[in-house]
Amino acid sequence: MIALTRMIPALFRNGSTRSADRRRVLRQTRRSRAWLLIVSVTLGPVASAAGPGALPPTGTDAAITPVPQPPPADPLKLALGERLFNDRRLSHDDKLACSSCHDILTNGADSDHRNTAHDGSYMPFTVLSVFNAALNFRLNWQGNFRTLEGQTRSSLENPANMATNVDEVQHKLDADPGIVRQFEAAYGRPPDPSSLLDAIATYERSLLTPDSRFDRWLRGDKAALSPEEQHGYALFQSLGCISCHQGVNIGGNLYERQGVFHRLASGPKILRVPSLRNVAVLAPYFSDGSAPTLHDAVRRMARAQLDQTLTDEQIDTIVAFLKTLTGTYHGVLLRVPP
Ligand code: HEC
Ligand code: HEC
Repeated sequence: MIALTRMIPALFRNGSTRSADRRRVLRQTRRSRAWLLIVSVTLGPVASAAGPGALPPTGTDAAITPVPQPPPADPLKLALGERLFNDRRLSHDDKLACSSCHDILTNGADSDHRNTAHDGSYMPFTVLSVFNAALNFRLNWQGNFRTLEGQTRSSLENPANMATNVDEVQHKLDADPGIVRQFEAAYGRPPDPSSLLDAIATYERSLLTPDSRFDRWLRGDKAALSPEEQHGYALFQSLGCISCHQGVNIGGNLYERQGVFHRLASGPKILRVPSLRNVAVLAPYFSDGSAPTLHDAVRRMARAQLDQTLTDEQIDTIVAFLKTLTGTYHGVLLRVPP
């Protein structure tokens, strides 16, 4: 898959205007669109979240599809998962809940990306948002988890994170009659590892952010984007950003090299392409947090991944487009944490 996706940006790089070349580029673009469709179809999300809104639009915009409404879920499991996500007993010393690093009221991540490690030490990666994580084909910056349950187990066990394990958490919960009753109502049995992980994953699958202005535009509301924002999307396509950032999450469905042409950031060379959903509220950027603004991230991306030096005006136009990707949770737009 890496070899296949590596080819795609190369197809977009030919900027010549001579007509023979232009014909070739058009042919290649059509061919690469076909690849994109194959890629988007074969790499499904970690958890199937197809709802009524998940149908792809027709035509050239099919490389990106709108975020669906959250899938139906058992309300008892959902409520239990939400409670657990906010429960500090999920860390060894009862100091950290999932929500300590993943703020659901703002952006699903946090504002202080670097110093949140359990032991106060430096974390190797910035916090990823849990919003729309269920739509990624693999989880974490390196894409090293296939399921939400596996990722949760690792968050619990990671010494730099919650430094506990499922058995220790279960033991603590067993001593709390209120939560034991809640497990019995939802799963028909007291807490155990599979119900614990399932409840959290059920909650995470509900954390989708539909109804961004861009998604409304994809669904046919042509007034949802200004001419500048539409121009930004056109640039995003013609430059070849879309060859890596595509699918329902505008990323999250491929592995790619970082620094294809020029050095980009510290950290591993191969990463899961990150989602650009809600990207305007998720600064700082890159796995090492080295880009403080979206403007800086887009400039460095174009140079490192596409060998293109963009003008400030082009960057502003793309940033205007990226700002239309902010979606809603419970009807409220995501925002930057205070
Ligand atoms: C100490 C801060 C911290 C805590 C607490 C924490 N996380 Fe995270 N979370 C992170 C960081 C940092 C990453 C990125 C890790 C990586 O890429 O290796 C991450 C990544 C994730 C992702 C992957 C998102 C994606 O798009 O791939 C999910 C899902 C997630 N966390 C869920 C949870 C859950 C569930 C809990 C509670 C059991 C939790 N996290 C607790 C910091 C934290
Ligand atoms: C060859 C694949 C590829 C291409 C082409 C590409 N990107 Fe990226 N993009 C990535 C990868 C991989 C990362 C993660 C880099 C890192 O964290 O070190 C990334 C990260 C980003 C980020 C930061 C996201 C975050 O949450 O930190 C933004 C913004 C971004 N890209 C925008 C763009 C734009 C705009 C273009 C076109 C000018 C583009 N990308 C072209 C692969 C690509």
